[in-house]
Amino acid sequence: MKIGIIGIGNIGGTLARKLSTAGHEVRVANSKGAEGVRAFAQEIGATPVDARGAVEGADLVILSIPFPVVAKLPKDLFDGLAESAPIVDTGNYYPGLRDPHIPELDEGKVESVWISEQIGRPIIKAFNNILAYSLAELGRPAGSPDRIAVAVAGDDAQAKRIVMDIVNEVGFDPVDGGPLSESWRQQPGTPGYCCDYDAEMMGKALREAVPGKAPAIRNELYNRVGQLGPSPSHADIIAMNRSAHSDN
Ligand SMILES: NC(=O)c1ccc[n+]([C@@H]2O[C@H](COP(=O)([O-])OP(=O)(O)OC[C@H]3O[C@@H](n4cnc5c(N)ncnc54)[C@H](OP(=O)(O)O)[C@@H]3O)[C@@H](O)[C@H]2O)c1
Repeated sequence: MKIGIIGIGNIGGTLARKLSTAGHEVRVANSKGAEGVRAFAQEIGATPVDARGAVEGADLVILSIPFPVVAKLPKDLFDGLAESAPIVDTGNYYPGLRDPHIPELDEGKVESVWISEQIGRPIIKAFNNILAYSLAELGRPAGSPDRIAVAVAGDDAQAKRIVMDIVNEVGFDPVDGGPLSESWRQQPGTPGYCCDYDAEMMGKALREAVPGKAPAIRNELYNRVGQLGPSPSHADIIAMNRSAHSDN
C-alpha cells in the first residue's frame, strides 16, 4: 500500500518504521517540509515529503501529530485524497498537561469526532490506546498468547477493515471499538487505555467504559504519574493505568 504518515514522533515514527519494513511504500512528513524528514526517511527506507506529499495518491493516511495542531492543518489538505483511503487518527487530548483547553472537548465532544470535523473527512481512530513503548517493542506474531490489543473505531466498515489489517500487520490484535461516536470508550482515562491488554480484556474494557467518567480519571493519572518518580518503568505505568479502574 501507499501509506502517508504525517507526524513521525513516538507513534507515527514507529508506525512508519514498521510499515516500511513490512514492504509498504511509506511517505513521511512532519512540520518542516521534505528536508526536515530526509534523514529519518533514509534510515527507514521511506520517502521524505511534506504533508501534501504524504496525502497525494495515498491508499491510507496516518495522522499522528499533537492534538490541537490538527485544527491548523490546511483546510484543503485532504481534498484530493480518494474516498476509499482511510485517514487514521492516533491522537489523544491532554488538556492542561500537553494541550491547551478546547471547550468543545471539555464539554464532552468525542475527540476523534472533533478531529473529523477539523479536517472535514471521516476518521478511523486507532493506535491511540497503546503506549509508544508497547507499539515499538511489544508487537507479536498473530496467535501469540501474549499479544496486545489495539482498539479501532470508525463508521466505514471497509476503511476499518483496512486499518485493522494494518494493526495486525504491525503486531497487535485489532479490536472493533464500534462507530466513531463510541470512540470515547478508548480515550484517555478509560478502562482499556494504555493497559497492554489482550483482545479479550480490551473488548471487556471497551464495554465497561462509563460515559463521562474518563476525564476525571485522566486528570488523576496526571498526578499519579508524577508520584512514580522521574523515570518510571513501563511496567509501573501499565500497573498504574490498570489500577485506576480497580474500583470499577
Ligand atoms: N506517545 C505515546 O505513547 C502515545 C500513545 C498513543 C497515542 N499518542 C497520541 O498520538 C499523537 C502523536 O503522539 P507522539 O507521542 O507520536 O507525538 P510526538 O512524538 O510529539 O510527535 C509529533 C509529530 O508531529 C509532528 N508535527 C507537529 N506539528 C505538525 C504539523 N503542523 N504538520 C505536520 N507534522 C507536525 C512533529 O514534527 P515536528 O518535529 O516538525 O514538530 C512530530 O513528528 C498525539 O496526539 C498523542 O497524544 C501518543
